[in-house]
Amino acid sequence: MDNDLNGEPRIVSIRLEEIQKQLGTQHVLRGVDLDIFSGETMVLIGASGGGKSVILKHITGLMRPDSGRVIIGKQDISQLNEKGLAVIRQKVGVLFQNGALFDSMSVGQNVAFPLRERGEKNITTLTEKVTEALRLVGLEEHINKMPNALSGGMRKRVALARAMIAKPESILYDEPTAGLDPVSTGSIDSLIIQMQKDYGITSVVVTHDMKSARTIADRIAFLRKGSVYFCGTPEEMDASDDPVIHDFINGHPAEEL
Ligand SMILES: Nc1ncnc2c1ncn2[C@@H]1O[C@H](COP(=O)(O)OP(=O)(O)OP(=O)(O)O)[C@@H](O)[C@H]1O
Ligand SMILES: [Mg+2]
Repeated sequence: MDNDLNGEPRIVSIRLEEIQKQLGTQHVLRGVDLDIFSGETMVLIGASGGGKSVILKHITGLMRPDSGRVIIGKQDISQLNEKGLAVIRQKVGVLFQNGALFDSMSVGQNVAFPLRERGEKNITTLTEKVTEALRLVGLEEHINKMPNALSGGMRKRVALARAMIAKPESILYDEPTAGLDPVSTGSIDSLIIQMQKDYGITSVVVTHDMKSARTIADRIAFLRKGSVYFCGTPEEMDASDDPVIHDFINGHPAEEL
């Protein structure tokens, strides 16, 4: 899939090249290669503890590879200092696995944060955009609450509104629907699709929910034993006759995932 529907070559938005990463005594990433095209939704699946969140942390520069390169646009971010990384982080919104809200700020202040970082000071603009972002995740009535007064699923949706509000070039979602009820899950999936369709945002979504994965993915990458074992469309994944892939997606306990 190196050409788009019109036969034009696709632009790589995020490229992981031969990423190696040891954490403690564990060799977590063992040569991860992955190209994520501009405007596509790439879903990352794989066993718990396999390194999916670690990969997302490499894409935001929170972790640096022991070797290999992380390229965002045309820039190798593995070499950037904090100042350079701050510029990259404006291009890449993140929904962390645990939500990671600022507990001393209200819901509205949390969601406004990325806009303030970009220098937006106009209160009317901020209020309008924050209200709109909270409306998208169904939480506009909770704008003045503090994070500790929210349920886990609500915190997650606030974090989602914060990741989306500035319409960055790319958004990384670490298990955006984990712990949510089926209706909320469906609406988060729709929101991810909407971000892609309306704003052309490139997305990387880590999930354990195969139904969600099939709904939102242009391509699915299966991480196994520290590298990308399979990468293809949901249809290609389903058509594969590889038992390792089938065991994983059908939830069969396999000897060595
Ligand atoms: N900061 C860290 N220091 C040491 N080890 C770490 C660190 N972060 C992650 N690890 C280890 O790296 C491995 C991969 O972790 P990671 O969080 O990426 O897994 P994951 O695929 O996201 O799993 P899950 O699906 O459960 O979220 C784990 O064994 C974890 O203990
Ligand atoms: Mg994780």
